[in-house]
Amino acid sequence: MTFFEHLAAREFPVTWWIRRPDQIDYIAEPDLFHDLFGHVPLLMNPVFADYMQAYGAGGVRASTFGNEPLANLTRLYWYTVEFGLIDTPQGLRIYGAGILSSKGESIHCLESLAPNRIGFDVKRVMQTRYRIDSFQKTYFVIDGFEQLFKATVDPDFGPIYYAMKGAEPVPAASVLEADRVFHRGTGEGWVAGGDV
Ligand SMILES: [Fe+2]
Repeated sequence: MTFFEHLAAREFPVTWWIRRPDQIDYIAEPDLFHDLFGHVPLLMNPVFADYMQAYGAGGVRASTFGNEPLANLTRLYWYTVEFGLIDTPQGLRIYGAGILSSKGESIHCLESLAPNRIGFDVKRVMQTRYRIDSFQKTYFVIDGFEQLFKATVDPDFGPIYYAMKGAEPVPAASVLEADRVFHRGTGEGWVAGGDV
């Protein structure tokens, strides 16, 4: 709750400790490198900063709805702020801080054929389980930060929570029929299903 209140006030709390050299690729708890190097630069982007504020406000409201909406919101944060990819004219790029603070996952998420790369859809993201003990099985790809902001600000999430109430979460590695999946293109990059 305190975390949501900070974000809603356009504040981002940053921890003070830093990992040891042998923890360079993975740590269970966020450290200064993750928070400052991973998160803070993106807060200079006005649209992304608005998204964070709107997310915080959504979290404050969601806490009145119970645990299930909070789980949905946590997944949204995980798959965007921590592990998000963005589609740019130059190809897929990383914006998630959880990826940026891991050299191994930075390469894995852009180059490995193993994980799914799926077009962002707020309900789909909120339904999807995630892994905290390995590289992600699925990354969600946004078209731009406006897409995130719109998905967070327009709805007050009430109807979304209602529609999702009691729904079985989607396993982290699943691909659903409605998903817009990115495939390896003929060149270096990734292209979304249906795009030529
Ligand atoms: Fe983080």
